[in-house]
Amino acid sequence: MKFDVLTLFPDMVAGPLNDSIIGRGIERGLIELNLWNIRDYAVDRHRTVDDSPYGGGAGMVMKVEPLYSCIETVKAKRPEARVILTSPRGVPFSQEMAKELAGLTELIIVCGRYEGIDERVTELCIDQEVSIGDFVLTGGELAAMVIVDAVGRLLPGVLGCDDSSVEESFSDGLLEYPQYTRPPEFHGLKVPEVLLSGNHQEIAKWRRQQAILRTVAARPELLANAQLTPAERTLVAH
Ligand code: ADE
Repeated sequence: MKFDVLTLFPDMVAGPLNDSIIGRGIERGLIELNLWNIRDYAVDRHRTVDDSPYGGGAGMVMKVEPLYSCIETVKAKRPEARVILTSPRGVPFSQEMAKELAGLTELIIVCGRYEGIDERVTELCIDQEVSIGDFVLTGGELAAMVIVDAVGRLLPGVLGCDDSSVEESFSDGLLEYPQYTRPPEFHGLKVPEVLLSGNHQEIAKWRRQQAILRTVAARPELLANAQLTPAERTLVAH
């Protein structure tokens, strides 16, 4: 899958994603990550990319021309691409959206900065505005990295079978059960007996219970859409 990230700070995005699992995906040719510096598309002597907002108010707005020209240049190379703008006013990013985006062959991510981008760019070029949470970052670069990471790891072959994405938080609408590895006791805390039993049916049952308990405690609102049996539904209702 091809990711194209359009940003004023390409160095911020390049480094971290080249490490670890996404980096391995890039090395193997499963992921292509291209970075575009929006400033390269500014035409004036000072390479201006922002301006004060019409109507007044604090902060600066990303100018139409360089941004439009950068997006259109990249779009011309990626005829299949969806174009996303990272913005705190976008639709919330989720595992479900990550799965949907992982079905695409090309994704263009435009990183917002300053107080926002000129609305006409959004109207002309952007398919979807996406927020990674109800908080405000200084810019969309971290959000773009979150999206590339969450989508990239779902692409076939990117995760080894040791770190499969099939059995994980959100796959059944529940948070993940607790995990343990050696030693069996640490600072007086023991690994639950059942995990040492070798009884796979009992282990699965325990993990399922734990996943439900965790979800009840930390994210009860997820339960409404979780895949629960009627018996489990009755249990969490109490
Ligand atoms: N840019 C600034 N804040 C953001 C957020 N929460 N999500 C996506 N992009 C952003």
